[in-house]
Amino acid sequence: MARAVLGIIGGSGVYDLPGIADLREEAIASPWGEPSDVVRRGRIGATEVVFLPRHGRGHRHSPSDINYRANIDVLKRAGVTDLVSVSACGSFREELFPGSFVLVDQFVDRTFRRHGSFFGSGCVAHVPMAHPVGPLLQRRIAAAAAQEGIPHRLGGTYVCIEGPQFSTYAESLTYKGLGYDVVGMTAMPEAKLAREAEITYATVAMVTDFDCWHPEHDDVDVAAVVAVARRNAETVARLIARVARDFPAEHEPCPVRSDRALDGAIMTAPSA
Ligand code: ADE
Repeated sequence: MARAVLGIIGGSGVYDLPGIADLREEAIASPWGEPSDVVRRGRIGATEVVFLPRHGRGHRHSPSDINYRANIDVLKRAGVTDLVSVSACGSFREELFPGSFVLVDQFVDRTFRRHGSFFGSGCVAHVPMAHPVGPLLQRRIAAAAAQEGIPHRLGGTYVCIEGPQFSTYAESLTYKGLGYDVVGMTAMPEAKLAREAEITYATVAMVTDFDCWHPEHDDVDVAAVVAVARRNAETVARLIARVARDFPAEHEPCPVRSDRALDGAIMTAPSA
């Protein structure tokens, strides 16, 4: 069984992860191009952790321009077996107020101008995506949140829009009407690429706003997102630190086979 290495992708407001021991920076090259930043590697407790800020330090990369393939590739090369991604999001539910954490288990991908696969002509593969989140990893995050007294909800659907503009009122009402729980701009195609890389993936969706559907709340703007994300950065760090401290030394085989997703997925004949 493989030694577990916990990867963390930080989203808006999470550009650093305090509390990493033996911290070092590594610039890992990828044939897929430039990742968002160098990775920072070290230990939390006995667990090896690798951190990558999705937007880069200083928030330089827009959701549409992030090189998701390079990001996932460098994390794979760094040995990451389990990946926790943190994403700021808007909420479609009264009870998921700004500051809440939603451990989503489903995604709807409405992005349209991003590279969404490592495969293509030459080597064709179709990995299963019915259950995009690793349930054991998700349960570990929920247990850590409970231990730390962090309000959270287990389960939910995250719709990923292309952005960079926020949604229109009609779009917001549509997503809400379709039963989606939260909206963000970054979890896709990240989750798909993690699956293709056989990395077990889970998202911590950090609610920063009510998008623009709520009659009693202001429409989302950057100031609101940044204010909540900044306030929550310490909570995110505490959550991740607890997940890491309680993490098993060996990667736990994923019940939805996220760590064996390529078994039987490649259609191209080996000699082709
Ligand atoms: N990120 C944070 N809030 C968001 C929203 N309302 N829509 C899309 N992405 C977001």
